[in-house]
Amino acid sequence: MPLSTRAPCRPESLPTATMQVMPAGAALGAEIRGVDLAQRLSTAQVALIRQALLDHCVLCFRDQHISDDDQVRFTRHFGTPVEHVRKQRARRVKEIFIISNVKENGEPIGALGNDLIDFHSDLSYLPKPGTASLLYAVEIPDQGGQTQWVDCRAAYAALPAPQQTWLRTLRAVHRHYVAAQNPPEPTIHPVVRRHPETGRLSLYVSPHLTSHVHDMPRDEGDNLLRELYRHMDQPQFIYTHQWQVGDLVIWDNRPTMHRRLPFPDAQRRIMNRTQIFGEEVVE
Ligand code: OGA
Ligand code: MN
Repeated sequence: MPLSTRAPCRPESLPTATMQVMPAGAALGAEIRGVDLAQRLSTAQVALIRQALLDHCVLCFRDQHISDDDQVRFTRHFGTPVEHVRKQRARRVKEIFIISNVKENGEPIGALGNDLIDFHSDLSYLPKPGTASLLYAVEIPDQGGQTQWVDCRAAYAALPAPQQTWLRTLRAVHRHYVAAQNPPEPTIHPVVRRHPETGRLSLYVSPHLTSHVHDMPRDEGDNLLRELYRHMDQPQFIYTHQWQVGDLVIWDNRPTMHRRLPFPDAQRRIMNRTQIFGEEVVE
């Protein structure tokens, strides 16, 4: 076979010595190099990746050629992936949920369209919300469609000590904008949460999924939330991900929130998502 038509070769399963964690140079985020997620990972590789996720909150693995099953297998290193009940025609594996604006025969093949999705922490409207989420980029638009994450630990740490102390006494109600998605009882979480693995405190409110501050007059609570959102939406706390096809990004929802920037609906964006949830929020 002439060289030019040979399939590109894939590196063999690499030892952890070749794995590199490259911090993104922002408050959070890192690229992991030297890992092929189509291969089974060693215990040592998994331990390094899990630690990097605790340290950097958002990890990107570039140039991955993975199947749905590969993504689910990788996701299992962080917990049990959610099996979606909602039907999506293009979906073959029940743990994969398609995020896309693409329509086939007039029907969207996935969820979330092309508009801005404001800052949120996944599934915070549930009593036991999201821990890790993963997106695998299948098709990306030429413009827009970036995802941004806020380091809610750094945002909390930057507040004056008396305000930190006061915020730790508050709780907030979270809700999904689609009423049917919400549990029967309102979901109430602490405004400041403690990460169960690192022990670090972070803000846990978001413009997309937090309804109001619990047990506080609405005006006062809304003013407080607006002030916190303005504080969190500052460049020093944010990592912006410019997607490339083949990127697998995993993030920890507990100390972060994220938003998807809008993109032209004439362009196609397809992401395969897996998610893990089911851990109580502790203050
Ligand atoms: C999500 C989400 C952002 C994106 O799937 O929960 O927020 O960039 N996606 O697609
Ligand atoms: Mn999300």
